[in-house]
Amino acid sequence: MTEPFAIRLQSFADAFSQDLRARLAELLSGAPERLADAVNHAALAGGKRIRPFLVRESARLFESGEDDARAAAFAVECLHTYSLVHDDLPAMDDDDMRRGRPTVHVAYDEATAILAGDCLLTLAFEFLAATHHAGGLTGTLARAAGGTGMVGGQLFDLAAEGRFEAGGKVPDTETTIRRIQAMKTGALIAASCEMGAIAAGAQESHRQSLAAYGREIGLAFQIADDLLDTHGDAARIGKAVGKDAAAGKATFVGLLGTDGARDLLASTVEAAKANLGALPGDTQTLQALADYIATRDH
Ligand code: IPE
Ligand code: IPE
Ligand code: MG
Ligand code: MG
Ligand code: MG
Repeated sequence: MTEPFAIRLQSFADAFSQDLRARLAELLSGAPERLADAVNHAALAGGKRIRPFLVRESARLFESGEDDARAAAFAVECLHTYSLVHDDLPAMDDDDMRRGRPTVHVAYDEATAILAGDCLLTLAFEFLAATHHAGGLTGTLARAAGGTGMVGGQLFDLAAEGRFEAGGKVPDTETTIRRIQAMKTGALIAASCEMGAIAAGAQESHRQSLAAYGREIGLAFQIADDLLDTHGDAARIGKAVGKDAAAGKATFVGLLGTDGARDLLASTVEAAKANLGALPGDTQTLQALADYIATRDH
């Protein structure tokens, strides 16, 4: 019998975390101890490691590019971790718990949290500088992370709360929510898949299929996150729940209700899997990952 997917993901996460610990120790030797400690606090606190898993599994389809994929996996996880540290700041979502621990600004202070985030963002590109496909990997990660990707999505997410408008919150539409989710979450998840293809030197059409799969699972992932905010167990997911509605966040749970969001989640997972048929190799793991996103409880 094949091992249940959640167990495979957990064993990947454990091995990845151990490697990341060693790489961070190397790259941050000589950095101020408080900064290195804060980076480790954020980066080694667990986390599902979905994005690095996607990089590796995407590259594996082509049976190539293992070294570049390993570097890209560290890069995307550092970048993602920086986005969480800054997302939790008082000026943004103002959260006290993350990955089962106090957030960095609570455990240390705001300035240290900002700098730890900056450090993780910079480390991401240091990992990519040493790869064979540095140009493609750097450009892909930078576009996904920046103003037209994650950072832009975070701005739209806060704008949708109404905090920049004198008139307050504007009603959400499907189009605005889709754009927010695609940018703040989908872009980095799609980039993870695409970076696996780039690491492996895959042809353009395969790279595009993986990016399309990633965009759909990215949307599914954020819908699942928003469902967990309303129905999840804070101890299990390691962060506070029940905050999105109170903040006036634009989510599909808010627009469509729980059942409507669950239906959209299921159809988005199917749309994601439809892109896998055009790819070489064994895509079963990527299919299982898409299914896992629809059922995850943390
Ligand atoms: C949380 O991401 C932020 C979102 C984009 C929803 P994850 O749910 O992947 O967080 P970790 O990395 O497992 O902590
Ligand atoms: C986060 O969305 C997206 C990021 C780019 C960090 P959320 O704000 O919903 O993520 P959580 O719920 O705090 O993990
Ligand atoms: Mg947020
Ligand atoms: Mg948040
Ligand atoms: Mg959330």
